[in-house]
Amino acid sequence: MQANFPLPPGSVLGLLGGGQLGRMFAQAAASMGYKVKVLEKGECPASEVSAYHIDAAYTDKKAIEELRQTTAAVTTEFENVPAEVLSALAADGACVTAPASHAVAIAQDRIDEKTFLQSVAGVPVAPHAALLSADDADSLDASLFPAILKTARMGYDGKGQRSVNNIAETKAAFAELGNRVCILEKKLSLAKEVSVIVVRSLTGETVTFPLFENVHRNGILATTVFPARVTDEVSQKVRDYAARIAETLQYKGVLCIEFFVLTDGSVSANEMAPRPHNSGHVTIEAAVTSQFEQQVRAMAGLPLGDTSALCHGVMLNLLGDLWFDENDNHREPNWAELLKIEGVKLHLYGKAEARRARKMGHVTVLGATQEEALSRAKRAASVLGLPEPL
Ligand SMILES: Nc1ncnc2c1ncn2[C@@H]1O[C@H](COP(=O)(O)OP(=O)(O)OP(=O)(O)O)[C@@H](O)[C@H]1O
Ligand SMILES: [Mg+2]
Repeated sequence: MQANFPLPPGSVLGLLGGGQLGRMFAQAAASMGYKVKVLEKGECPASEVSAYHIDAAYTDKKAIEELRQTTAAVTTEFENVPAEVLSALAADGACVTAPASHAVAIAQDRIDEKTFLQSVAGVPVAPHAALLSADDADSLDASLFPAILKTARMGYDGKGQRSVNNIAETKAAFAELGNRVCILEKKLSLAKEVSVIVVRSLTGETVTFPLFENVHRNGILATTVFPARVTDEVSQKVRDYAARIAETLQYKGVLCIEFFVLTDGSVSANEMAPRPHNSGHVTIEAAVTSQFEQQVRAMAGLPLGDTSALCHGVMLNLLGDLWFDENDNHREPNWAELLKIEGVKLHLYGKAEARRARKMGHVTVLGATQEEALSRAKRAASVLGLPEPL
């Protein structure tokens, strides 16, 4: 079955993965009149708000076939969807997948990703070297140290990484990380971390959002300030690079790219996520079109929306830790106090069990100015018992 694009409202949109990104996608799709069919094993944040739920693993061949036969377009909400699943869905042109499997495959491997960014797209990245075995460390150039050793595949939230200062430490860290293929990256001198979201439509139209400024805590995104506090020059450069990356990849859908702004003012691309991103949640309220609405528009073959900021926003991530007091007893965060603060919007993902470091929800704090958004966000953080946002 080959559908005619744009897909009209009422059509069924396929979704691989049922976490919070899928939930917010399904909410955006429903508000535009689309029906989402989510593939995920068991009840999940997205199944609660989707019209249909295929309760199976995303590797289940029958389930993939059902999705292929009943949806004209499929999107993803997590990074490690096997690229073969996307190829199977797209076989015979039955289904459009946004993103396509080749883009997902590149983003899943830090070595392929860095090679693509630097050599194919011409975007600066940290000096780096691939390590296929511990012995490869012997030929590393001393100028790469101090460095970070990262597993090439399956890293997230700072997992699978070690700081290393020399060849001996690199060998030890390589073994600690399980003797898996790794990339060694020179440790750059960071002034700020930012991300950019670029969206490319089925017809090749490309738009970028204003930059997001991110602060991580324990390797997990803690706070995003939108728009980022960077010069117009940095902002334009990063947005231009993002558009070039999406174009070079012939990307379909929403793509997030993390960049470092270095202390000398230059920028360096870190990694790509072929999906909406935690740093982009602030677009739900603070931009004309949210990253999730863009995901719907892109996969349905519609024109993309205006990415302009409507106001300033600060996003605070709510991790499961907030549900425990100092004695490890369960508690409920004080939502009523939080919601008294002007400009506060609460998002909870419907996860039954709070666990430490688990993403349970986020708060977006809006303001007419950056100062207003930040001062409200500081009050919100203090009510919740979070460290002060920068
Ligand atoms: N080359 C580098 N120089 C300096 N700092 C770095 C470098 N690479 C990574 N970092 C720091 O480590 C953090 C995590 O790295 P990275 O984003 O590559 O890992 P991750 O586990 O995939 O994170 P996530 O998927 O949650 O964004 C970065 O946000 C940055 O603070
Ligand atoms: Mg990262």
